[in-house]
Amino acid sequence: MSAHTKQTACIVLAAGQSRRMRSSFSKVFHDLSGRTVLGHVVHTLHQLPLAQIVIVASSKTPTHNEYGAHTVVIQNEQLGTGHAVMTGLSGVKSDITDILIVCGDVPLITAHTLQHLLESVADFTLLKAKLPESDAHLPYGRIVFDGDKPTHIVEYKDADDTIRKSLWINPGVYKIRAHVLQTLLPKLSCDNAAGEYYLTDLLHMAVEAGATTKALHVDFDEILGVNTRAELEQANTIIQQRLIAAHRENGVTFQQSGSVHLYVDTQIGQDTVIEPFVTFGKGVVIDANVRIKSFSYLSDCILKSGVTVGPFAHIRGGVTMESGAEVGNFVELKATHMGKKAKAKHLTYLGDAIIGDGCNIGAGTITANYDGFQKYKTIIADCAHIGAHTILVAPVKVGEGAITAAGSVITTDVPDHALAIGRVVQTNKPGWAAVYKEKKRLNSIKKDLI
Ligand code: UD1
Ligand code: MG
Repeated sequence: MSAHTKQTACIVLAAGQSRRMRSSFSKVFHDLSGRTVLGHVVHTLHQLPLAQIVIVASSKTPTHNEYGAHTVVIQNEQLGTGHAVMTGLSGVKSDITDILIVCGDVPLITAHTLQHLLESVADFTLLKAKLPESDAHLPYGRIVFDGDKPTHIVEYKDADDTIRKSLWINPGVYKIRAHVLQTLLPKLSCDNAAGEYYLTDLLHMAVEAGATTKALHVDFDEILGVNTRAELEQANTIIQQRLIAAHRENGVTFQQSGSVHLYVDTQIGQDTVIEPFVTFGKGVVIDANVRIKSFSYLSDCILKSGVTVGPFAHIRGGVTMESGAEVGNFVELKATHMGKKAKAKHLTYLGDAIIGDGCNIGAGTITANYDGFQKYKTIIADCAHIGAHTILVAPVKVGEGAITAAGSVITTDVPDHALAIGRVVQTNKPGWAAVYKEKKRLNSIKKDLI
């Protein structure tokens, strides 16, 4: 068959039982910075020239967002990776010539590495990685070589001490000619320590059948398998490092990147500074020259250039801050539009609000936006000044340039340029305090005499 008629399908193994994760759901659906373990694998596969993606899923998860529009084949019983591939093959189109096999629990694999694998001309190509000495005890399958040529994979459970000492491990990613796979898979047995059909046994069966084999080197960091909570955290750390590196490449400053947590879809513009201990949830879009101060949490928001947020701010759920707007410590914004150079610098909750350009929101301002049944809007027009500790009982509108007096409870609309005072009028009683204190003093002297 000529090279240009080559058609590659990828079978993704995602039906395993995930015992080592100690979870009520599969390890492949655990989150890594905003995308599941399997989601990362599928996202990477989308960057390759594949004719088909077949996902081998468990009957416990027959439908899932991560499967997208791909072919899903259900493996009813988890009899091992070899059995999973056999199951997957039933969904592969008839004109496929090459099969890429990827475990759904290796989220860090890159498109670059997989592309390299696709270009190999051997009948059976696998990746090989060298364990760092400190991880020599990890229970990956070990690859046995004859010179350069990989000849066997021995599962850790089945390996003797000599083989266990080898640092060359099987990452669980292969490209195999479809006809080789179809011929050998039915011959697999489950006569091993786990009583499973090991996909890994295929390597030496392929060698015996005279197939050509090859192993391509890959960094251990790329093939870390997520089987345990510790590996989940380790994979997340690597994803964070990759995200940070990409943002730095775009001109973003992180003062202490190790304490920042990004989301896969976070967008940040040039010369923006991220201070320590900032967390990004889903859907954050930040322009150039923004400053996010420490201990802030952001999600679902658009921050235009020159915005300042934090320290200790919470921005969430459909927020837009126009250029030069500022929110300070202990300020929460939800479904709120802050106009240009609008400021809310301390202890404030603005929910379902439209804040005009140049407004100043005093410390302790609260929008009372919810009556227990429905949310209501607060509109504050341009250049209005909201006095400290104002409660805005929505729905309510404060007019352009208007002022609310400190401590007011604003329940009705305030006209443009008006002053609204919504609080009890103060009365001063001259000399009252002195009389009161004297009375208290005499009472305490009387008590002492008893
Ligand atoms: C497997 C390899 C091992 C390799 C390691 C790399 C085998 C026998 N062993 O071991 O050599 O070093 O991956 O990470 O292949 N799965 C199914 N159905 C099943 C069993 C597993 O879909 O019946 C899926 C799992 O969801 C997982 C993948 O296959 O995504 C690998 O299975 P797992 O149990 O994690 O194999 P390892 O023990 O890690
Ligand atoms: Mg695994």
